[in-house]
Amino acid sequence: MTTTVQTLTRKQISNHVREALGQVYLAAYGDASLPESHLDATNFAESTLTRHAKRTGFRLVVSTTDDVVSGYGYGFTGGHGQFWSDWLAGAAPSDIVETWVGDHFELVDLVVDPAHRGQGIAGQLHDHLVVDLPQERALLATAPDDGAAARLYEGRGWTVLVPAIDGAKALYGLDLTAR
Ligand SMILES: CC(C)(COP(=O)(O)OP(=O)(O)OC[C@H]1O[C@@H](n2cnc3c(N)ncnc32)[C@H](O)[C@@H]1OP(=O)(O)O)[C@@H](O)C(=O)NCCC(=O)NCCS
Repeated sequence: MTTTVQTLTRKQISNHVREALGQVYLAAYGDASLPESHLDATNFAESTLTRHAKRTGFRLVVSTTDDVVSGYGYGFTGGHGQFWSDWLAGAAPSDIVETWVGDHFELVDLVVDPAHRGQGIAGQLHDHLVVDLPQERALLATAPDDGAAARLYEGRGWTVLVPAIDGAKALYGLDLTAR
């Protein structure tokens, strides 16, 4: 199997790309037999992604494996006045907030279709997503007890800043100046 990763600008998110990302979202987070999962995936592809793509510093990477979209990852510049940054400001210890929150790269999601997992695709997506980022720090939240996600990020320099920030999720940070 051959996988290539492309970085797309907001204007390159065609209807075809949008539909393909919705399919990956559905396969990863939903149940294709449930109408609500389809609605959720459509909402992601048409509403959430469109809103996020307008943000400063937006970066989207998409992997294609043997001509099929197999995964994606994206983020943007996070800052005060945005939902997650403002929520973090109240949920994380103040020293973490002062050092890490604001003008960070917010890694919103990185997803690989279950049919293509375990082949190093997430690693490729990650490396394309963070290469040469202009920000000094990057933040994300994920469950540290999810073997693949924890290994993916911890093996690439991310550290746990707050172990339980949002239910089972931990807040991870990556110092982009250290590279
Ligand atoms: C997390 C996720 C993106 C990993 O995708 P993937 O393409 O299977 O991951 P990779 O094959 O690139 O493997 C990444 C690392 O995890 C390890 N890994 C893969 N599957 C694993 C598993 N089931 N258990 C433990 N480690 C695993 C790999 O060995 C690799 O480690 P390495 O870089 O040290 O070699 C995928 O499981 C997914 O889409 N999960 C749902 C969405 C999610 O939770 N995303 C993260 C939140 S932002």
